[in-house]
Amino acid sequence: KTIPATLIAGDGIGPEIMQSVTTVMEALEAPFLWDHQSAGVGAFDQYGTALPEATLDSIRRTGLVLKGPLTTPVGKGFRSINVTLRQAFDLYANVRPTQTIVPGGRYENVDLVVIRENIEGLYAAMEHYMAVDGDPEAVAYGAGFNTRAECNRIVRFAFEYAIKNNRKKVTLVHKANILKILSGLFLHEGRKVAAEYEGRVALEERIVDACAMELVIRPENYDVIVTTNLFGDILSDLTAGLVGGLGMAPGANIGEKMGIFEAVHGSAPDIAGQGIANPLALMMAGSMMLAHVGRQDLSKRLDGGMKQILQVEGLRTRDLGGKATTQDVTQALLRAIQ
Ligand code: NAI
Ligand code: MG
Repeated sequence: KTIPATLIAGDGIGPEIMQSVTTVMEALEAPFLWDHQSAGVGAFDQYGTALPEATLDSIRRTGLVLKGPLTTPVGKGFRSINVTLRQAFDLYANVRPTQTIVPGGRYENVDLVVIRENIEGLYAAMEHYMAVDGDPEAVAYGAGFNTRAECNRIVRFAFEYAIKNNRKKVTLVHKANILKILSGLFLHEGRKVAAEYEGRVALEERIVDACAMELVIRPENYDVIVTTNLFGDILSDLTAGLVGGLGMAPGANIGEKMGIFEAVHGSAPDIAGQGIANPLALMMAGSMMLAHVGRQDLSKRLDGGMKQILQVEGLRTRDLGGKATTQDVTQALLRAIQ
């Protein structure tokens, strides 16, 4: 094993689904040398901090992380670790692939990727109240920003991703008709970048609301979508819903020299400890991580195994309407990848 990687099992169902993924990775002879670290509520209870320095050191050293879901306390407590990590490590691209794998759903041929700008936009959290007539919270005021450099970087990332993954079209999703400056800069910068790829990857433009409608009616028409933070957050949950929901949705947070791979879903406290969580979203994140380090061979084998158990064997965990346990999925997958 030659590639050091930080492993954070996470909270709630995290340890159960991570166990499934590491077992399968072991069987695949994946090249990762795991450095086990903790974060989240578990770390908070044990070390008094939800993001221990040792975990940050490990991530700095490896630049490669497989992460289970982390519980974020509502209201008081600590700030979202996910948001902290994105900003601390400049993880500017959030990559969320969506593919029809479970047959018999609403859509048969969805195969798209949402690439969301992960750091700027309306999530810059520049918010405050303004007082009017003695009411201190009469007006809620919020601002966002997009930089030319970041618009350029994220759209370029999308086109490079398209080329590497043999995809044909990139759709720039914006709201430049109304947010003429905030979203306009993204659109104009995006067009400039797209021009460099003319003849290799096609460019399409969509206004975000129309795009949301089209994604529900004809998701098959989409290939790679690139958009700013808020729009990407919403659209990528929408696209996860097109193909079976959270148990089937992986995501990667990518920076210049770093990647954090995770499931889109959270720690699912309602089913934690019962052994019934669907490990496939985290498994798909593991597959993305294999491709990221150049092991497309293992990534394809793992994807093939998942298709086999879902499409041929018809295995379904509870979230997909079945009764299979996490263990059942692990065991079936171990057979399927042999
Ligand atoms: P959630 O995604 O944990 O759960 C929503 C629903 O989906 C629940 O009914 C849950 O049982 C089900 N579900 C989720 N993943 C599943 C899986 N793999 N298999 C079967 N069923 C699954 O969202 P919720 O309840 O809003 O959040 C719980 C906690 O997770 C919160 O503290 C939240 O902040 C955190 N969270 C963490 C994320 C991360 O670390 N990336 C992302 C989203 C939420
Ligand atoms: Mg979200």
